[in-house]
Amino acid sequence: MARIARLSDVLINKIAAGEVVERPASVVKELVENSLDAGSSTIRVDLAGGGVDRIIVSDDGHGMGRHDATLCLERHATSKLRELDDLFHIDSMGFRGEAVPAIASVSRFSLHTAEVGADVGTRVSLEGGVDPLIEDAPPRTGTVITVEDLFFNVPARRKFLRRGDTELKHAEEAVVRLALANPEVGFFATHEGNELFSSAACPEDPRERIAAALGPAAHPHLFPVEERRLGVSVTGYAASPEFTFPNARGLYTFVNRRYVRDRGLIGTIQRAYQDFLAAGRQPVVVLHIDVDPIAVDVNVHPQKLEVRFSDARGVQEAISAALNRMLRAAPWLGAGADPNGPGGNQPRDAAHYAHAVERFLTRAQEASWGAPLPTTMDSAGSPLSGAPGPMVGIPSPLPFGAVGRPPAFGEAQPQLNEAPPPGYFAALRPMGLLGGRFHLCEGPGGTLVVLDPHAALERTRLTSYLRALDDAKGPPAPSLFGTTLEFPVQVAKALVEGREALARLGVDVEPFGGTTVALKTVPPGLEGADARSLLEALARALPPKGAALDSVTLAEGVRVMACHAARKAGAVPLTDAQLRALLGELDRADFHPPCIHGTVVVLEMPLLELERRAR
Ligand SMILES: Nc1ncnc2c1ncn2[C@@H]1O[C@H](COP(=O)(O)OP(=O)(O)OP(=O)(O)O)[C@@H](O)[C@H]1O
Ligand SMILES: [Mg+2]
Repeated sequence: MARIARLSDVLINKIAAGEVVERPASVVKELVENSLDAGSSTIRVDLAGGGVDRIIVSDDGHGMGRHDATLCLERHATSKLRELDDLFHIDSMGFRGEAVPAIASVSRFSLHTAEVGADVGTRVSLEGGVDPLIEDAPPRTGTVITVEDLFFNVPARRKFLRRGDTELKHAEEAVVRLALANPEVGFFATHEGNELFSSAACPEDPRERIAAALGPAAHPHLFPVEERRLGVSVTGYAASPEFTFPNARGLYTFVNRRYVRDRGLIGTIQRAYQDFLAAGRQPVVVLHIDVDPIAVDVNVHPQKLEVRFSDARGVQEAISAALNRMLRAAPWLGAGADPNGPGGNQPRDAAHYAHAVERFLTRAQEASWGAPLPTTMDSAGSPLSGAPGPMVGIPSPLPFGAVGRPPAFGEAQPQLNEAPPPGYFAALRPMGLLGGRFHLCEGPGGTLVVLDPHAALERTRLTSYLRALDDAKGPPAPSLFGTTLEFPVQVAKALVEGREALARLGVDVEPFGGTTVALKTVPPGLEGADARSLLEALARALPPKGAALDSVTLAEGVRVMACHAARKAGAVPLTDAQLRALLGELDRADFHPPCIHGTVVVLEMPLLELERRAR
């Protein structure tokens, strides 16, 4: 007896709808993504009944001819993917050819579309995904899709929808995410005639889009952030620590224009801000992470909300670097802040340098994909002993193991932040400053070495504080500080109760009446630090009352101190003598403790090798 039968297309679409279409918000997302893929410059979303009763998405994109308008309702019909290989280079929002048939199978659906310049348009209407009625319709540029009575034919799903206002909130949030990702497209949304979102295209100043999403009060607090590295660029806007939310609703991350909610990315942003924000406050950050499509898998989640990076750590480090630079420059302080920071008076120069570096890196990467050269790496991608090559940061474009395709980002940075050989730093020849911040040096064998002074200082301080902790003689002779500060009760209490732990770190505090605390001494290197933010950060790192003082807590205290010591010192370019001293210290520094704040001390680029290859 035959037990197996092939499922009908209608049933298959309904099953697929279970994954793709969860609620009205998912319909909004899928339809707007199609409008974006169609090259629209303005997109409207009009809702009724929280989106359950009606969703209309209208665009002015390239539209569809009769054939495509009919075919797009069939499963796995897509204009965006042709071969398996395309799946690894996805630059459109859609690629599965699943959304339209899935939505149509669980709603009353109609589509009105025409290609630019067509004499006649097409209207296709169907209910529950069956018996499409195809008619002529007036020509209009672009496409209008109307979805009514979502899940009318799947009562079990309809029952699970929330109240109209909850569904509406989700749908509105879907519009906001798409709008934030695409500031060059105008977005307008209404619900039963009331405006939900309205923002004309604003490619010149994406802060307007963020203000439309998060409220106009955000605008003056937003500052650009940028970090471009081989294979990854991080750009966007981050608010000063003065503008925060009590929850994470101001945190948005986009990977290749796709909104993602990834705990690793959000955690990295929160860590960058951790020394700046009061407990319970969350930063406001809108970040665009762009990576080579080959270095990210977007096909790991039915709604494409999660992605998998081939080098998640490299991406997180780029995010940390971008945010740390902005926070350290403190552009919200106006005059007196680091002039090379994003809000400083040399933004054009800074951008110019950033682009120059990016172009250089891109060319270097491209140069490496040419004819295979005699390799200096073994098959596992490790440098052969004695061979010149990258050590700390950007590797040589030479040794990518894979032949015939560009390396995925993770493969491109195998030796990130490994310890350099003895005497490496002292042998560097300083050549000048890049972007008012990075020190460019000539390294062994004609390599270009880029040193981040902030990261370098942080690394050397971390080493000296950790060594002092291990030293039986106790902390080195402290520097006198001598200041009194008033704190919120919890902070003052934590500091006074944690005096013993602080003393182990070389920080001497005393109660000074009420919630005032006197800071008497700090370890060397912290003399110029911001006492308030240092003590607040240390208070957060201290163990709760009664808990044992363990090495993890002390190490966290050391990390906080190293960060504060470097923050102050790293804000102004180093003099030649300071740079020499720092290079000497770096040779003595320990590179084994985990990378602080994910920053990279030096990047190395074998310039001569590049020139030889570029000939
Ligand atoms: N607004 C639109 N303008 C122009 N073409 C559209 C529009 N919406 C859909 N299409 C066409 O219909 C096809 C099917 O859309 P559908 O959303 O089902 O699949 P997809 O976008 O290719 O992939 P995915 O299922 O991942 O979204 C698209 O590939 C596109 O060619
Ligand atoms: Mg689609």
